[in-house]
Amino acid sequence: MYRMSETPLITASQIENRLDSLAQEIKAYGPDIILSALTGSFMFSADLSRRLATPELQIKFIRASSYGNSTESCGKVKIEGIENLDIREKKILVIDDILDTGCTMQGIRCALESLGANEIRICVLLDKAERRIADIHADYVGFDIENKFVVGYGLDYADNFRTFPDIWTLSEENA
Ligand code: IMP
Ligand code: MG
Repeated sequence: MYRMSETPLITASQIENRLDSLAQEIKAYGPDIILSALTGSFMFSADLSRRLATPELQIKFIRASSYGNSTESCGKVKIEGIENLDIREKKILVIDDILDTGCTMQGIRCALESLGANEIRICVLLDKAERRIADIHADYVGFDIENKFVVGYGLDYADNFRTFPDIWTLSEENA
């Protein structure tokens, strides 16, 4: 069983504040297309994109899942929704909830590079750098966190907790 932390690791108001400054950083880049990796980044993408609003800014959604032996080395990444993307000559901002081993993001970047984008930058709400396996870094990071499992604000444990406005730590309950 799991146990939720007694207080949030990151509160909704801390997220709100960070989103404002993150949006300013991203405006300087001026992406043409936001590519949001579902499902974990749905809330983050919505809150961030409304702070970047311009008529031409497009938002598209992909679904990426990694499989294979992800603890030892990077397995394969399956990406849905990429088939009909026209990103040639465009400045892309890929948004995901968390950079953990980095394998998923590496798979996404690899797939996008072959589609002829002008530039690809990566934005994640959370960065668990300690866990990194893949050679990848995010250009925009909401919060650096320790190696703990977190839920809420889009992030899940077995598809639960996604709708919580704050981010909480989950730990294994001792039997
Ligand atoms: P990576 O390929 O190891 O970087 O994993 C990225 C994906 O694993 C994220 O998009 C999340 O879906 C999931 N993930 C990694 N760490 C956590 C966590 O602490 N809480 C919830 N999901 C996580
Ligand atoms: Mg995910």
